[in-house]
Amino acid sequence: MKITVLNGSPKGKVSVTYNHYLFIKKQNKDIEFEEFDVAQQINSYENISEKIEEVIDSIKKSQAVFWITPVYHFTVPGQLKRFIELLFEYTDADLFKGKYATLLTTSIHFYDNMAENYIWEISEDLGMQYVKGFLAEMHDLLKTKEQNMLIQFFNNFKRVFLTDISQTKRSVKLIKNKFRYDLEKSVSVAKSKAKKILVITDYTAKDINLKNMINKFGRELKYDLEIINLNEIKIQGGCLGCIKCGFAGECVYNDDLIDIYKNKMPKADAIVMAVKVKDRYFTSGIKIFYDRSFINGHRPMNQGKHLVYLVSGELSQIVNLREEIQARSEVSKMNLVDVISDEVDNSAEMNERLKNAAKSLEYFIENNITVQSAFYYISGQKIFRDFIYRSRGIFKADHDYYKKIGYYDFANRNKLTAFIGNLLGILLINKKIRSEFLKRVREGMIMKHKKVIEKLG
Ligand SMILES: Cc1cc2nc3c(=O)[nH]c(=O)nc-3n(C[C@H](O)[C@H](O)[C@H](O)COP(=O)(O)O)c2cc1C
Repeated sequence: MKITVLNGSPKGKVSVTYNHYLFIKKQNKDIEFEEFDVAQQINSYENISEKIEEVIDSIKKSQAVFWITPVYHFTVPGQLKRFIELLFEYTDADLFKGKYATLLTTSIHFYDNMAENYIWEISEDLGMQYVKGFLAEMHDLLKTKEQNMLIQFFNNFKRVFLTDISQTKRSVKLIKNKFRYDLEKSVSVAKSKAKKILVITDYTAKDINLKNMINKFGRELKYDLEIINLNEIKIQGGCLGCIKCGFAGECVYNDDLIDIYKNKMPKADAIVMAVKVKDRYFTSGIKIFYDRSFINGHRPMNQGKHLVYLVSGELSQIVNLREEIQARSEVSKMNLVDVISDEVDNSAEMNERLKNAAKSLEYFIENNITVQSAFYYISGQKIFRDFIYRSRGIFKADHDYYKKIGYYDFANRNKLTAFIGNLLGILLINKKIRSEFLKRVREGMIMKHKKVIEKLG
C-alpha cells in the first residue's frame, strides 16, 4: 500500500506540518509513504522535467495522494500553488482516476477552511476522490487529545481508500469562459494627478481580456493608472516562512517587491488587482505577491485604501475564491469597491461594467467612503490578537502596533463589563427577578436605539 506525500511547506522537512505528518507516518508502518518537498524545491520542479515525472510516477503507483501544507495567506503557499499548476500542465485526468486524496494543514486556524476548500476542489479537478482532511493548529502535536484525533483522522482515511468507499463530489466542473474582449478605439476621460492608483497584475501577451480590461478601466477613470506587472520586475522567490520580518519588518530578499510594499503601496489611494483565474485560484505569481506581503506581518498594510478587482476567468463559479476576495479585503481593512469579471456575453456589457467600476472608484475616493467590516474581519482579527499577544517576542513589530492601535481588546480585561455580568447572573437566580427581567428585556435591548431615532424627530 503506497501513498504519495506532497509537502507544501517552503521549509521542507524543517517544518511544523512535516512533523505532524511524521506522527501519522510512525503510526502507519504498513504503508509506504513516498515524500516530495514540492514547495521547497519548486525551482527544480520548474526547470527539470524529470523531477516532476518522478512525482507522476509515484502517484501512478500509489493508492492515494496526501497533501501536507501550512496555510499561507488564506490558502496554500505560492510555491505549492505553482506546483499544482505544473501538475495540471504535465498530467491528464487518467493519472489520478480511482485515487483518493486528503489533506493535513498546520496553521493558527486563520482561514484554514479556505485552504481546504481549494485543495478539495483541485483534487476533484484532478480526478481524485477527496476525503475530509485534518486542519491542525500548529501546536496540536503537543496535545494528547489532538494526537488521538490525528490518529483517528488517518485511520478513517485508510478505511475509505482501502475499502474503496465512494465519496460525494462537492465541486462541479468549471465551464470555460469563451468570451473574448475586443477593445474598440475610444477616447480617454481627462486625467487628474490628484490621486495615485496602483494596478497589480501579471498578465502575459496571451491574456488579451485582462490587458483590455485594464486599458478600458484606465480610459474611464479620471486618474492615471500606474501598472506594475509582476512578470516585468525582479522577484527573487516566494516567502520562505523564515519570519525574519517578525521583529522589525525586514525581509531576507532584496528585490522589487520590497519597494512595492514599502514605498509604492503606502503612497497609493487605491489598488486595482487585475488578475486571472488559474486552477481555481489566481496565478501562483499573484499568490507569491500576497505571501510576500507578510513582510508587514499581521498588520493591515493598506488600511483605508480603496480596492477594485478586475478578474479574467470563471470567478462566479468558484465560491471559495469569491469569499477570499471579500475576506482578504476585510482583513486588510480596505474598502472593496467592485469585483468585475469577464464572464459576460459581449464587449458592450464589459465596457459598461468597467465604466461603472471606474465611476464607483471615483465616488469612493472623492467621498472618502469606509466600507464596514463584518465577520471575516472581526473573527480573523481576534485570532491575530490572541496569536500576536502570545508570540509578541517574535512578532515585535506587530505587538508594538497592536498596543498602539488598541487591538488588545480582550473582553476579560474590562472590569465593569465583568462586574455587571456577574451581578446580573446572581440576581437572575431569583425566579421573581428573572420573570420581571424577561418581561422587560426586549424593550430594554432597544432603549438606547430608540433615543437615537427619537432625536431625528
Ligand atoms: C507567509 C505566511 C503566511 C501565513 N498565513 C497564515 C494564514 O493565512 N493562516 C494561518 O492560520 N496561518 C498562517 N501562517 C502560519 C503558518 O501556517 C503556520 O506557522 C504553520 O504551522 C507553518 O507550517 P510549516 O512550518 O510546516 O511551514 C502563515 C505563515 C507565514 C510564514
